[in-house]
Amino acid sequence: MSQEQWNTVDRYFTDRLSPDDEALSAALAAADAAGLPAIGVAPNQGKLLHLLALTQGARTVLEIGTLAGYSTIWLGRALPDDGRLISLEYDPAHAEVARANLAHAGLDKIAEVRTGAALDSLPALAAEGAGPFDLVFIDADKRNNPHYLEWALKLTRPGSLIIVDNVVRGGGVADPDTTDPSMRGVQLMIEQIAANPKLSATAVQTVGSKGYDGFALIRVLA
Ligand code: SAH
Ligand code: DHB
Ligand code: MG
Repeated sequence: MSQEQWNTVDRYFTDRLSPDDEALSAALAAADAAGLPAIGVAPNQGKLLHLLALTQGARTVLEIGTLAGYSTIWLGRALPDDGRLISLEYDPAHAEVARANLAHAGLDKIAEVRTGAALDSLPALAAEGAGPFDLVFIDADKRNNPHYLEWALKLTRPGSLIIVDNVVRGGGVADPDTTDPSMRGVQLMIEQIAANPKLSATAVQTVGSKGYDGFALIRVLA
């Protein structure tokens, strides 16, 4: 199995089931023009986030890691007109591109991008009494995933869904001797989830246009 084959199969499904429309294409073009890395979710993964948010009946979404707002658009489009999405982004240049992309997608009434380190923004959100969020998408600096999980649990309710991107990273997650801080962050988060009886979770490996990676899905039970 090669990356070329994964691309071909991703294109087959994406062309038929989740083609980028004008706003999504423009968002990717704006990200590219601004020199942002192409590390957002793939189109079929964005559609997966969208379908999970719809299935969840989500009215409120918290995203950690905005980049250019590509995943944000997919999630925001699952919300009702009076829904609310808050996305946290460290890099002001990324946040600026994302805000323009969200406005172009007609989502600026629903979606807000907050600039700053998420570990500063999350306590501020809690202090404001934000939440509980129906869905949280964790997709920022992976070394902080254990902290992001803790904050996600403070900002959710029984029945909420937490989704974490990039939990496989080429398979490194299963290496017990890894010293990669990103992989350590994912491993520690998985241990936290495993030790918490109030959570029910799984993780699935994915291949496709973004390589070999995976998502974790966590339901807050109580
Ligand atoms: N969710 C996006 C991709 C996010 S890429 C999509 O799928 O379209 C990861 C993003 O997290 C980058 O934009 C990076 O700047 C941001 N990030 C990294 N460290 C962060 C931190 N400490 N707080 C908030 N955002 C951070
Ligand atoms: C990286 C981050 C992501 O969220 C992703 O989906 C792929 C790569 C990165 O930081 O390299
Ligand atoms: Mg990601």
